[in-house]
Amino acid sequence: MNADYIKWRDNMSFKNKVVYQIYPMSFMDSNNDGMGDIRGIIGKLDYLENLGVDMLWITPVYSSPKFDNGYDIADYYNIDPQFGTMEDFDELIEKAKEKNIGIIMDIVANHTSTHHDWFKKALLGDKKYQDFYVFRDKAFVEKHPINSIFGGDAWEYVEELNLYYLHNFDKTQADLDWDNEEVREEVYKILNFWLNKGVKGFRFDVIDMISKEFDKLSMSNGPKLHEYIKEMNKKSFGNFETLTVGETWSADTEHAKLYSNPDGSEFSMVFTFEHIMYTMNKWETTIDKQKLKGIFEKYQKELFGKGWNSLFFNNHDLPRLISRYGDEEYREITGKQWAMILHSMAGTPFIYQGEEIGMTNRAWTREEMRDVEAINYYNEAIKTHEESYVMDKVRKISRDNARTPMQWDDSDYGGFSKENPWIIVNENYKDINVKKALEDENSLFYTYKKLLKLRKEEEILVEGDFNLIDLGEDFFAYKRTYKGQELILVSNLTKEEKTLDFVAKGELFMSNYEKEEKNYRAYETRIYLSK
Ligand code: GLC
Repeated sequence: MNADYIKWRDNMSFKNKVVYQIYPMSFMDSNNDGMGDIRGIIGKLDYLENLGVDMLWITPVYSSPKFDNGYDIADYYNIDPQFGTMEDFDELIEKAKEKNIGIIMDIVANHTSTHHDWFKKALLGDKKYQDFYVFRDKAFVEKHPINSIFGGDAWEYVEELNLYYLHNFDKTQADLDWDNEEVREEVYKILNFWLNKGVKGFRFDVIDMISKEFDKLSMSNGPKLHEYIKEMNKKSFGNFETLTVGETWSADTEHAKLYSNPDGSEFSMVFTFEHIMYTMNKWETTIDKQKLKGIFEKYQKELFGKGWNSLFFNNHDLPRLISRYGDEEYREITGKQWAMILHSMAGTPFIYQGEEIGMTNRAWTREEMRDVEAINYYNEAIKTHEESYVMDKVRKISRDNARTPMQWDDSDYGGFSKENPWIIVNENYKDINVKKALEDENSLFYTYKKLLKLRKEEEILVEGDFNLIDLGEDFFAYKRTYKGQELILVSNLTKEEKTLDFVAKGELFMSNYEKEEKNYRAYETRIYLSK
């Protein structure tokens, strides 16, 4: 390990931290208008403190018309009235700070809403603001066909200007031109505004897309990407003690090492997605646990001593962990299984709201769907596929699965609100809710709580190296070592009971079953520790 790295890691304030992600629209509705809000979050800080999280990543709460639920920002300096006021936000920072919890803002800097003043001015013919975005003429657009990630053409025609603007997402999300220095300076100004308010970090939305290569029709990993991030670091968050994480769908291990360079010149860490997406087509993605093992191994090993990883299975864009990687019939067991697998690796764990109580996907109907991406997918796919095929994909993959309201108790609407929420509550709230989870000392909640505590107490979780142990297809097993200590995790990936010859060194430290037995039962997962 190089000296720079050791210095960085020893100084790094985030290395044993755990982040909890809040999707405010669906977390807690304090004023009963059917939409979650900032005061709702303030009211639940005791709960979050009890779980033991260090930081809250709050998805966008800025003024927004919400075509993409806040990822379409109209004013970066104001809180959307549906979420509350700036006073509420300041209070959130203060109250969280009293509990030693830091707030991480979500910054959408690749694009703005078309309702943003800059875009409005651009539409009125103001050249300065047209240059903030990617406006091109017909000849250029014809030479550069680009598809939007949300489906359809990424170029939108503006009749008054006889020009097209680029939108890699919804047509209300216009891409900014990062090659324009004025744009970059505006972004740094925004970051400094929030840093001066006391936020402790940022999650950078689709940040791998800020440098584009039109000649190659490539919308991410452009030639200036790392240069711009370094500049941003120097001119904003690099001057504060922060935890920063970039959302980088296209990152491989090489990019991940640059992004999380131990010299501190870019971010603290990134979200990489290879373990989530094994194919290029999101809607066709299948689970392959053998591949998954290999991907984890690659990132764990290649970044060790050379960078820093984030650890996550869930966020507001992904289906629920248990429905996807686990087994709903063994909900608590598989919830604990994947929590133990993930939280015992090297990196910074992120928990997405509801993951800690084992919330699941639900069986959507077309009318209940809310997500712009899923609706676009449906409208396209239905042209060539049966309804049942399309809805099966939606039920498995749609982002709405992550966005159903947090299930607090068994009262109406799961205790999220007293009014009909903006999105349907999962019917299983009577059985799966926070109140029930807190009352049962063996619940999934307490597994998460324990894992979070271990990260503070056992240095091996933070510092240990990683080696996969090959116990065949049915098992996921790995070993971490640190200063003569060993942590071994063994997990039965199947529903069948399995015998295993392998004897792990050390004492059984944690398990997803209450009583010890010789064989590994369905999805049984054990952590052994030897000191
Ligand atoms: C990111 C966000 C997602 C959003 C998209 C466009 O992937 O996580 O929710 O739709 O960027 O901003």
